[in-house]
Amino acid sequence: MADAADITEHPEPPSYPMPRTCPYALPEGYRQLRDRPTLGKIRLPSGKLAWATTRYEDVKAMLGDDRFSSDLRRPGYPLMMDHQAPPPEFSTSLVGMDPPEHTAARRAVAADFTPRSIDRLRPRIQEITDEYVDRLLAGPRTVDLIDAFANPVPLLVICELIGVPFADRAFFLETSFTLMNAATPEAGARATADLMGYMDKLVTDKERVPTDDLIGRLAARRGEPGVPDHRDLVGMAFMLLMAGHETIANVIGLGAMLLLDRPVLRKSLLADPSRWPAAVDELLRYFTIAEIANSRVALEDVELGGVRIAAGEGVLGLTVGANRDARRFPDPDTFDIDRAERSLAFGFGAHQCLGQHLARTELEVTLTTLFERVPELRLAESVEALRFKEQHVNYGLHALPVTW
Ligand code: HEM
Repeated sequence: MADAADITEHPEPPSYPMPRTCPYALPEGYRQLRDRPTLGKIRLPSGKLAWATTRYEDVKAMLGDDRFSSDLRRPGYPLMMDHQAPPPEFSTSLVGMDPPEHTAARRAVAADFTPRSIDRLRPRIQEITDEYVDRLLAGPRTVDLIDAFANPVPLLVICELIGVPFADRAFFLETSFTLMNAATPEAGARATADLMGYMDKLVTDKERVPTDDLIGRLAARRGEPGVPDHRDLVGMAFMLLMAGHETIANVIGLGAMLLLDRPVLRKSLLADPSRWPAAVDELLRYFTIAEIANSRVALEDVELGGVRIAAGEGVLGLTVGANRDARRFPDPDTFDIDRAERSLAFGFGAHQCLGQHLARTELEVTLTTLFERVPELRLAESVEALRFKEQHVNYGLHALPVTW
């Protein structure tokens, strides 16, 4: 059993995030980590070290093991930057909770995210998507698809889900964009405070006059066991915005890029629309955009991947490496929509993505509608000229200029 001190092959551990040499390829550093005989460490932007799991079996074992905690306030939790520690008054919401608190909180909202509940939302997702395709077709014939389509559609779906009134949607969209694209930490902090202030008022309004949406229904059940109190409901609304917007926008952008770059694949999907769900699953695996979503801290000493992880040490579940692991996915660097194996794109275990049915539905509706309604769509710049989010929490495109 090795520990960090025994690792001689990499005297200086690689730094996170790792640069990509090709938008479709796994960064070389992850491949090297994955092909080591035992688990290795990685240096975070904060300067601290964390263990990095990159093999399918190791990532799955780690995420399914309750000896690893999601509580980001615990010492040793692998925050990317130390200043990301949430202030004490800020609810960590589901993502940062451990059982039994997490189990009860997740149960309180799970009904809104079942395939059946999401199916009820599908007509609204289609309407919002159609509205934005109408806008595309009515505007100039060269646009940035991220700005004009990939960003606003998921944001408006979140508005439906959490029940943001129509009159507030322009403010909501604008402040969310500012938050996502903040040029300085101060601008980001201001936008976060504005949105938290807005969510606080939204929850207060719904506590007074309950509405038939996720937050409204929970506000009406206040006081029941497991139902979030006011502060946690505000945190929940904010977390759903953060978890459910940019993630989907990134996959819409990367998916549109890949399909515009591969006309044969695009034509085959248009000829047989029943293959879209499989294509969406493969896009989720191939790009695995949530690079650092699955971080944990060990609650006790645990043996994993040939090393002993000490209590209090941080571990990253790098699904981006696991989803290209040839032991699980034959020919992993090929985009193949006929794969049978399920990927870890939505994580694994107790925290597995709550919004995965919503994400799949949104991706299916947006991409199908876009390519069916704008069949002449093409890239306005080569893939090599595009700018990617390399230093971000989620992988994606800054902009995707398209024309038709
Ligand atoms: C392409 C889109 C998405 C991807 C790739 C994605 C990925 C993930 C991953 C990897 C996790 C696990 C985090 C962990 O274990 O630490 C997660 C959790 C979560 N996601 Fe998503 N997600 C997406 C979309 C959404 C959407 C649309 C929503 C809701 C509106 C959402 C809500 C959540 C929530 C609430 C959790 C925490 C669940 C828990 O802790 O029990 N996600 N997501």
